[in-house]
Amino acid sequence: MTDDKTKDASGARPVRDSISEMTEIVLPNDANPLNALLGGRLMHWIDLAGAMAAHRHSRTYVVTASIDHMDFLVPVRVGDFVILRSSVNRAYNTSMEVGVKVWVENYRSLESHHVSSAYLTFVAIDAAGNHIHVPPVIPETEDEKRRYQDAARRREIRRTETARRNEVRT
Ligand SMILES: CC(C)(COP(=O)(O)OP(=O)(O)OC[C@H]1O[C@@H](n2cnc3c(N)ncnc32)[C@H](O)[C@@H]1OP(=O)(O)O)[C@@H](O)C(=O)NCCC(=O)NCCS
Repeated sequence: MTDDKTKDASGARPVRDSISEMTEIVLPNDANPLNALLGGRLMHWIDLAGAMAAHRHSRTYVVTASIDHMDFLVPVRVGDFVILRSSVNRAYNTSMEVGVKVWVENYRSLESHHVSSAYLTFVAIDAAGNHIHVPPVIPETEDEKRRYQDAARRREIRRTETARRNEVRT
């Protein structure tokens, strides 16, 4: 994390300020009877890794507003390392889209595979639970710029879906 000297005049912060990494070793308590990691446990770790990036960007408390679609691409076994990398893709008024990419690493075979990717939206709050404004994000690398653009498209899809669900409820 960088200090406030890297903030630009508008208060915006570079994506690199929020980059986070978390590593877990899969233990029997994380697995099903076939020694494969439970999807729910991975979702929990994704939520935590995502929250770390959101905390780093907003420098305040956050709540998870939504988690987009997730695929589990390869099984993860007891004893494997699970590596989760997260960063804020884009920030809006009070919310931030965070991307989390998950890798499995086997330390005996030295193999590493992409397990899952997820997009989460976090809303910044103060200690009383009021929503608070978050600074904009500055994408610097080509990947960060691509994710920044794509985030706007996903936000539009989420909004359309939320409106559709609200219509169905009424
Ligand atoms: C998420 C939550 C804060 C949204 O609050 P709200 O008052 O209903 O929503 P608002 O319409 O004021 O929107 C606030 C922001 O959240 C975003 N948001 C709201 N619902 C969302 C959703 N389902 N997905 C993505 N973003 C969402 C809005 O786009 C808005 O972002 P912006 O300020 O950057 O434009 C509120 O529903 C909540 O506290 N939910 C429980 C969160 C929680 O406990 N999470 C842990 C899992 S149990």
